[in-house]
Amino acid sequence: MQESNRQAGIPDINVSATHGKLLYLLAKLKGAKNILEIGTLAGYSSIWLARSLSENGKVYTLEYNPEYAKIAEQNIRQAGYQDKVEVIVGKALETLPILEEKKLLFDLIFIDADKQNYSHYLEWSLKLANPGALIIADNVVRDGKVFDETSDDVLVKGVQQFMDLLVNNPAIDSTAIQTVGVKGYDGFMIGIVK
Ligand code: SAH
Ligand code: DHB
Ligand code: MG
Repeated sequence: MQESNRQAGIPDINVSATHGKLLYLLAKLKGAKNILEIGTLAGYSSIWLARSLSENGKVYTLEYNPEYAKIAEQNIRQAGYQDKVEVIVGKALETLPILEEKKLLFDLIFIDADKQNYSHYLEWSLKLANPGALIIADNVVRDGKVFDETSDDVLVKGVQQFMDLLVNNPAIDSTAIQTVGVKGYDGFMIGIVK
């Protein structure tokens, strides 16, 4: 899948295999039934999450770019998870309200789309989470740049605002773990909704 994505010109920004496996393990630990992913790309992490599901679970994954969404659907079908993963195309801030209207609630939410909107995604995640739900966010370290308070990089600032919103937030217990792997030095935020 990674090789065909490269050939299709998909940017190499999916989670690494070891991080995909970590998502899978965390979803299994949680026994998550309904999973929400914000940022599908070509469906690599969606498939890891789908693999964790028991009989009747489902992954809803949100993607802005219709070309990526189409390739994601192909990859998901090829992996045999077409009945377990629903790709929803559009800007996440415009498609999240649809999930709310459908009264869907989630046991695990993985935030991995545009970093500038991470704070909004946290607010939406808290709204759409079951009590005890796991919220995970990717790219919260970015080579340590997130610790630079003087940074004027909008991506870094987006993550900083997100982390500020988490500190002492009464709705969620959270931490961040730094990781080093084939994609360099970065990290996951992991939190449990109260
Ligand atoms: N989770 C994927 C990688 C996601 S990369 C994996 O690990 O396999 C980030 C994705 O977020 C990109 O595909 C990008 O198109 C998408 N994205 C960016 N802005 C978005 C938005 N406003 N709404 C939904 N998706 C968005
Ligand atoms: C990049 C990496 C990511 O994991 C992501 O979600 C978005 C962008 C990047 O390296 O540009
Ligand atoms: Mg990412």
